[in-house]
Amino acid sequence: MSEHTVTITDNKTGKQIELPVKQSTIGPQAVDIGRFFREMGYFTFDPGFLSTASCQSALTYLDGAKGELLYRGYPIEQLAEHSSFLEVAHLMLYGELPGKNQLESFNNIIVRHSMLNESLKRLFGGFYHDAHPMATMVGVVGSLSAFYHDSTDIHNSDHRKIAGHRLIAKMPTIAAASYKHSIGEPQVYPDNSLSYTGNLLNMMFSVPCEPYQIDPVAEKALDLIFILHVDHEQNASTSTVRLAGSSLANPFACISSGITALWGPAHGGANEAVLNMLNEIGDVNNIPKFLARAKDKNDAFRLIGFGHRVYKNYDPRARIIRKMCHEVLAKLGDENDPTFELALKLEEIALNDEYFIERKLYPNVDFYSGLIYKAIGIPTNMFTVMFAIARTVGWVAQWMEMISEDNQRIGRPRQLYTGPTMRDYVDINER
Ligand code: SDX
Repeated sequence: MSEHTVTITDNKTGKQIELPVKQSTIGPQAVDIGRFFREMGYFTFDPGFLSTASCQSALTYLDGAKGELLYRGYPIEQLAEHSSFLEVAHLMLYGELPGKNQLESFNNIIVRHSMLNESLKRLFGGFYHDAHPMATMVGVVGSLSAFYHDSTDIHNSDHRKIAGHRLIAKMPTIAAASYKHSIGEPQVYPDNSLSYTGNLLNMMFSVPCEPYQIDPVAEKALDLIFILHVDHEQNASTSTVRLAGSSLANPFACISSGITALWGPAHGGANEAVLNMLNEIGDVNNIPKFLARAKDKNDAFRLIGFGHRVYKNYDPRARIIRKMCHEVLAKLGDENDPTFELALKLEEIALNDEYFIERKLYPNVDFYSGLIYKAIGIPTNMFTVMFAIARTVGWVAQWMEMISEDNQRIGRPRQLYTGPTMRDYVDINER
């Protein structure tokens, strides 16, 4: 069968170019436009990358129309029901679900990297007590490269593996230390006998002066939410990690750049912004006013937690979290929590509103996750930190995949220049 190509014709010059189509396993194929500028003299123009595949990847597949999400081919619903965060981390890093012994040794590797260098711990003291924990995360994660020189040779696969393990293992410790610093409490060392999420809860909420009982419902709920946040194709923060990594920067600096991009309220910062929005709406009777603002082009307000670049159907993760909300709030929080009731009502009204229906704006993963974090007792300014902990697995897996590609090259997009044409300098006395 002849090669699948697409032909583009310049109707100004009549010039044509035949471009090869790259085959996908599932989902859209891609037209390889690598020769386009060289042969046709034009750039392609796609701000926001609505139609652009920046790379090829075997990690995560999502179908926005069907609301499907697969990690290495496994449906998110099945992983949410049967798997654990560290088992999914192994799947993403190494391509297969681990056997019992493999999972146990992976778990042992991760727990043994959970401590921080003692001098790194002093870094937290340099931050103002009311620094947003995401600001601390960006700074401290980036500074890991100042401590772990022995795992920053990115061309050495062992270094890449150790650096990845260190990042996945240390994120909860750094997150908990950021939180403890913000409330003026002493940092708590990781406890290797605890689960990944049990350890995080213990490091966040235990104090030296009394025993702390990890709530198994909270521990399980956090593990499930982390599975849902592990990876999501080439979203803004993952694309940032890949671009930073393409310059051959060390992995700690790359993950720190991912945390920075995730922080924005249009991305991972949305979970914190949803809770703030629900608190601002306050009462069901105020919903019409806020919906009107969300539709008003002159108002920057958007209904945070709704809409998605890819999902034009219900975000499958939001569906899972929404169901979990009922269970967790019934056990941990107040199932009649006015914020949860308000969220359900807001969702119902928005999903029946022509503006949202026409634009296929459904609740996304961030719409409900904050309600569960709140029920677990996690403060609002730590919601995006939770997202960063889980997404570190995806960032590391995507970085490993990119850096080990044969034809890996620096990412360097071009632009459509619309500035002044060339002109001569004018002396200040003549201006
Ligand atoms: C995450 O990419 C990922 O995969 C991200 C993520 C992941 O796991 O990594 O899934 C996590 O970031 C989820 C998204 C969290 N963000 C929010 O909830 C913020 C609120 N949502 C919007 O800011 C917006 O929907 C985005 C940023 C999520 C998507 O933006 P797009 O794809 O650029 O959509 P758009 O701005 O082109 O919107 C299309 C239309 C516009 O109206 P028109 O110009 O056609 O008249 O829909 C409108 C927008 O004004 N619109 C909204 C809206 N989202 C889109 N209007 C009101 N409220 C909203 N939330």
